[in-house]
Amino acid sequence: TRVFISRDMASVALGADAVARAFADAGCEVVRTGSRGLFNVEPLVEVESAEGRIGYGPVTAGDVTAILGGSHPNRIGDVGALPFFAAQQRFTFARCGIVDPLSLADYAAHGGWTGLDIARLAEPQAVVDTVKASGLRGRGGAGFPTGIKWQTVLDAPGGPKYIVCNADEGDSGTFADRMLMEGDPFCLIEGMAIAAHAVRAGHGYIYIRSEYAFAVETMRKAIELSAARIAPFTLEVRVGAGAYVCGEETALLDSIEGKRGQVRAKPPLPALSGLFGRPTVINNVLSLAAVPFILSAGAEAYADVGFGRSRGTMPVQLAGNVKNGGLFEVGFGITLGELVNDVGGGTASGRPVRAVQVGGPLGAYFPPSMFDLPFDYEAFTQAGGLIGHAGITVFDDSVDMAHMARFAMEFCAAESCGKCTPCRIGSTRGVEIMDRIIAARIPEPAPPTARTGTLEKALYSRSPDRIEVSPGAQTALLRDLCDTMKYGSLCALGGFTPYPVLSALDHFPEDFGAPAPIAQ
Ligand code: NAI
Ligand code: SF4
Repeated sequence: TRVFISRDMASVALGADAVARAFADAGCEVVRTGSRGLFNVEPLVEVESAEGRIGYGPVTAGDVTAILGGSHPNRIGDVGALPFFAAQQRFTFARCGIVDPLSLADYAAHGGWTGLDIARLAEPQAVVDTVKASGLRGRGGAGFPTGIKWQTVLDAPGGPKYIVCNADEGDSGTFADRMLMEGDPFCLIEGMAIAAHAVRAGHGYIYIRSEYAFAVETMRKAIELSAARIAPFTLEVRVGAGAYVCGEETALLDSIEGKRGQVRAKPPLPALSGLFGRPTVINNVLSLAAVPFILSAGAEAYADVGFGRSRGTMPVQLAGNVKNGGLFEVGFGITLGELVNDVGGGTASGRPVRAVQVGGPLGAYFPPSMFDLPFDYEAFTQAGGLIGHAGITVFDDSVDMAHMARFAMEFCAAESCGKCTPCRIGSTRGVEIMDRIIAARIPEPAPPTARTGTLEKALYSRSPDRIEVSPGAQTALLRDLCDTMKYGSLCALGGFTPYPVLSALDHFPEDFGAPAPIAQ
């Protein structure tokens, strides 16, 4: 009997290896796939039968006999028919969880390499035009049109040109890049080979964070296996060293060059002067992995799906306190409420949802009253937030939003590359302000200390009854600081930290101890 069991890091963490061993011991042929992307049915086993694959999950190593006898209580049947999967539009993740990630035959049998073959028959400019027409925008977070970025590189004088894949996926609650690299590595390789043809690049790098050991191993093997298929284009993996800021494109380039990962000032754009000062396409895993579909199915098939200027699909990642955690690829336009309540099933704790953070640790918090917000770059920007890498982290009503705001500042202080003052020093001052706000929720505010800033001391000294160190005065100071960080920081780390802080303050002022002024 043939059985399919995921070897994705999340599945392995939930016990998939022991289950796979038990099936092998029982004489089954075990195919290790990537994850389908619904974690509450992992470890998931799919047994090949005349009616197709029959899924069971979650299972343990002790369940082998019951499963092979067809009598296990967690029988799912056709996994693809589960509402969680049936409602998806899997363009990028179509093969993930289904194929053996390192089987070239499986990849080709499921439509692999068609996009590259089509691209190589066309002129580079025609490929760039197709990507432009698809409306694909940078899936790393910023949403910059991918085709325009490629055009800049194609038109850039000088060479050699490079393709760099940003697989540093540092956002908490996101895992789509990892899932794709572990579950369908040839798809990323094909996307990069198409990009190389489109801009006339010869070599590429995949920069993977060191925490993603399985992805590093899988990508390295996949590159080796597909070397002849993508030749003359060549690829290599570079492993990060654990700094969040190396996900910022220019710090990432410095890191590949062997320097300490520190943000460069832009301009020049990497498209014109990137890796080793050469024109460079730097795209996120999901942007590059969307390209094979676009080339093989056509730009229109991609652009037909979506909402407003956000075209195509987004692999949304549901995490945190959510019942159905996992990866849900869907066309833009689905509302936040549909994602959290209908797809996610609400909280895992069963308590009411109080807040969701969208876009990683630098994304805004939204209350359920904003759940009719459509998933769309522009709509989120207008609502004071960002889609980012499409990670959604759910919190129930036990969350303390002042502590979440403090965490954002603390995170920025820990991860700041130190190059600019608003981020390096502002984040530390932000932690201190948050500490005072939290402390002031208890009646007696703390007197100023040696570490209190001059402005705050002035506020304090002007106020014999200490009204000024009340939460109201502190939140005003916090807003002022956020304004400085937002407009004075060189990169998104310092510049976006105000999103979680201010959204927490605006939407949950009661957690900050006093009614807060409304943000502009
Ligand atoms: P950005 O807006 O400065 O640039 C976006 C991209 O477009 C860059 O690659 C830039 O080089 C390129 N670009 C801009 N103008 C161009 C032009 N005229 N021609 C060619 N290329 C051009 O944004 P940035 O700072 O690169 O990224 C910020 C985003 O990163 C945020 O939205 C945030 O959500 C996201 N982010 C993602 C994380 C993850 O784990 N995926 C972690 C942290 C932040
Ligand atoms: Fe470095 Fe922070 Fe400035 Fe970005 S904002 S360049 S991480 S100090």
